[in-house]
Amino acid sequence: MKKLLAVASSPRRNGNSETLLNEFCRAAEESGWQVELIRINSMNFKPCQACDACAKDGRCILKDDMQEIYPKMINADALVIASPVTFGSLNAQLKMFIDRFQCWWHAKFNLKTPFIPDQPRRRGFFICVGALERERYCENAIEIIKVFFVNINHKFSGSLALRGYDEKKAVAKDPGAREKAYRAGKEFIAEVEASVDQ
Ligand SMILES: Cc1cc2nc3c(=O)[nH]c(=O)nc-3n(C[C@H](O)[C@H](O)[C@H](O)COP(=O)(O)O)c2cc1C
Repeated sequence: MKKLLAVASSPRRNGNSETLLNEFCRAAEESGWQVELIRINSMNFKPCQACDACAKDGRCILKDDMQEIYPKMINADALVIASPVTFGSLNAQLKMFIDRFQCWWHAKFNLKTPFIPDQPRRRGFFICVGALERERYCENAIEIIKVFFVNINHKFSGSLALRGYDEKKAVAKDPGAREKAYRAGKEFIAEVEASVDQ
């Protein structure tokens, strides 16, 4: 069974980004995929300390919850990440998470032994949601995700950026928004499955 790793970064459980993520994952489950949801706000981990110990073998020496994440990422077949927009970008929890893949940057670019091979079938999708209508806030977040996906050898399959949702249940109350996330999930899974033959 194929595995989708779903990363929720909001501190609001079942808030707007997580509601969209759940719809996306529901579509994956309906297509026969196994979904593992991780909430990084509940994890205990430090930001990257820039110690560069990972330069020698691509492994992070910090002993915290991130150590469980690296194998999950390797063992998944695809990745979806959801974030609220905060101060015009993705949130702090997610940025901290991304920075902890500096070890994978060394593995890929310096040591030439990436933990995930660079193959077209390994894909990722990004969901973000903000309160304001300003498009560039989501664009900032998407740019960071694109850089991250290059680092971890995931092809960026696309994003769903919704604006104008603020209170916690705003997305839950909007069937149209949930439908967009569900459809994005269906299309993403279809694309990943088709890419196996490429
Ligand atoms: C610290 C903080 C900063 C925020 N900054 C922005 C922002 O710059 N632009 C925006 O559109 N919304 C901003 N918001 C609003 C959230 O993006 C919005 O409430 C979103 O729906 C929250 O999603 P969630 O329920 O998944 O956490 C901010 C919210 C917080 C808590």
